[in-house]
Amino acid sequence: MSLDVRAALKEAMARLRAAQVPSHTLAAELLLMHVLGRDRTWLYTNPESALNPAAAGAYFALVARRAAGEPTQYLTGKQEFWSLEFEVTPAVLIPRPETEHVIEVALDRLGARGIKIDMITGAPSPPLHVADVGTGSGCLAVALAHELPHAEIIATDISAPALDIARRNAVRHAVADRIQFIECDLLGVSSNSPLAPRPASLDLIVSNPPYISLNESATLPREVRDHEPYAALFGGPTGVEIYARLIGEAGALLRPGGILVLELGYNSSDEVRKMFHVQRSWANVSITNDLAGIPRVIAAERI
Ligand SMILES: C[S@@+](CC[C@H](N)C(=O)[O-])C[C@H]1O[C@@H](n2cnc3c(N)ncnc32)[C@H](O)[C@@H]1O
Repeated sequence: MSLDVRAALKEAMARLRAAQVPSHTLAAELLLMHVLGRDRTWLYTNPESALNPAAAGAYFALVARRAAGEPTQYLTGKQEFWSLEFEVTPAVLIPRPETEHVIEVALDRLGARGIKIDMITGAPSPPLHVADVGTGSGCLAVALAHELPHAEIIATDISAPALDIARRNAVRHAVADRIQFIECDLLGVSSNSPLAPRPASLDLIVSNPPYISLNESATLPREVRDHEPYAALFGGPTGVEIYARLIGEAGALLRPGGILVLELGYNSSDEVRKMFHVQRSWANVSITNDLAGIPRVIAAERI
């Protein structure tokens, strides 16, 4: 049976809706755009264009995988973040829109500094030293490198396969020469990583750490629980365990006046805010809500 674009989309939407896939219309469109190498405008201006049997076969194979729970982004291999396209595989968390608030808060805090520009080279004087902890796809490190052309960035992750994807995304966006990727635990302060002997010299540390508690696992959508990397999701029994270690390590590596910007898990803002106050080495602690009104980002300045 020959199938045109309109009929293929209609059939795919029906199968995805029956499988209770969220945003089933969008998923059907994205998968067909991926298989045909076309954009959405083309799909809707060429509804009678015939799908050859190979394309139809490939399309409905992806629709079946999506219906079984695989996230659309792992099937198409891409996700947009900060208006940049990132390669994603099951080795990395799919970048979320709310994580863009980490970039906004970091740029806002740096901007308020009125960074000095060298009149001859046009570069900030001195250059900015930045770290992204748990870089995953590299979305935060690459977006910051893009926004801050003279920043030197260290991006860490405990997962070697994730770092391979992050490196590829840095190359894709032509910022690989300014990002050093390091496989280590958090900032590697207690290990032999290249960061360990560093003096307190960083200007900015950002992180979207794993922050889901282990007992929340059953409440997660199957797309997340069964497909995204365990190390990217779970922060420990309560979910906030990693913050205490991370704030301690950041305190040791940020220079006085340096800024720490962390994404927060749902409901964790009070506990994480307390950690900053207990350590007594932080000032200007602020919380930023996401578009849903949930406290999403905490930022603080090293005294
Ligand atoms: C929530 S994901 C964030 C990924 C990416 N930064 C983003 O915002 O999409 C957390 C990342 O931290 C990494 N990770 C987990 N535990 C870590 C640790 N102890 N040290 C370094 N990285 C860690 C995971 O492998 C994962 O890539």
